Amino acid sequence: MSALQKRNTSVSISAVDLFCGVGGLTHGLQQSGIKVLAGLDVDPTCRYAFEKNNAATFIEKDIRKFEGPELSSLYPSGDVKLLVGCAPCQPFSVHTRKYRKHKDQRQDDKWGLLNDFGRLIEEVRPEIVAFENVTPIRKEDIFADFIGKLKFLKYSVYQVLVYCPDYGVPQKRRRLVLLASTLGEISLIPKTHLRATLGCAGETSLLQTEDYERLPPCPTVRETIDDLPPIAAGEVSETDSLHRARRFKAKNQARIKQSKPGGTWKDWDVQLRAPCHQKPSGETYTSVYGRMEWDKPGPTITTQFHNFGSGRFGHPEQDRALSIREGALLQTFPEDYDFLEPRVPVRITQLGIHIGNAVPVRLATVIGQSIQKHVEENTHG
Ligand SMILES: C[S@@+](CC[C@H](N)C(=O)[O-])C[C@H]1O[C@@H](n2cnc3c(N)ncnc32)[C@H](O)[C@@H]1O
Repeated sequence: MSALQKRNTSVSISAVDLFCGVGGLTHGLQQSGIKVLAGLDVDPTCRYAFEKNNAATFIEKDIRKFEGPELSSLYPSGDVKLLVGCAPCQPFSVHTRKYRKHKDQRQDDKWGLLNDFGRLIEEVRPEIVAFENVTPIRKEDIFADFIGKLKFLKYSVYQVLVYCPDYGVPQKRRRLVLLASTLGEISLIPKTHLRATLGCAGETSLLQTEDYERLPPCPTVRETIDDLPPIAAGEVSETDSLHRARRFKAKNQARIKQSKPGGTWKDWDVQLRAPCHQKPSGETYTSVYGRMEWDKPGPTITTQFHNFGSGRFGHPEQDRALSIREGALLQTFPEDYDFLEPRVPVRITQLGIHIGNAVPVRLATVIGQSIQKHVEENTHG
């Protein structure tokens, strides 16, 4: 039994966030009460938002050049060490595979970054490790090797596929969450929200009656973005410079006018359809060029959420795609999360990458709460 285990004083948890981006995961962990010391990311454009909104230092570095002793030196002695990391998901995502069929994702230079996460775990031996990624990663050898390494290092490993509305994230997003601990068995806390009061999903029968009385419904698109002022495509709100929507080409303007909430491009006049949709092979791509529905959770927010043609990213009733603010709110960033560095031009594409790449803050809070509970249960006599 480690010195940290079964003692009576309360134990503080200190975290380092590898691949920290603009801090979705860090912010949620901090909201759960976990101290995040630092985040590491190779992209310098993430620094402003990460440091402005979080009491943590941004380390601009390629993880492949980050060594164990440097990481170890960040942790104060006596704290439970938590190492979290959401390696870039592009090499493993279904979306990448669908649209880059001819490219072997193993050639992607991001492919091996999970090995560097594993290397740092081996060198530093944090008591707890947490990780979030897209679900197809489970089928990859590199993931099996990662789990194998954790088990070899005597971690108790837990993995679960999370449907985000079950934890109050207003998005039909599915993600893999992995938790590993040397203190004992660890797991995610039970679901915190009901997904189905709105007729949006089928697993209500799995819930007990008391869950209906106890759990609040998952927020909908309406509850998340309806109070923002209306804007047109290409416009910026006078009161909020993050509430800005991409300009539309004339054809997309005509298309969105004919789009119905929850419908597809099949609702449009034939002459508006894209050439690929006219081929039999394009018939199945019904999740692009769609409008969201007010009273359901939104689609998975990707880095392209501001593009009408890249998913079900049309506003439920205004003729435009989601604004940057709406994407951030659906990712459960707080309204006052500051993404815009003063005197730096606003770049929609870059903000889309920062926001779409993030772990939803609410899911990160749930991960943090699960870790807090685990540490409390395993370090008090
Ligand atoms: C999925 S995003 C992480 C999002 C973040 N956890 C959040 O919640 O906001 C992956 C991040 O990995 C970073 N990244 C990519 N290659 C890297 C490398 N070699 N070293 C460090 N960071 C890297 C990217 O810049 C990106 O911000």
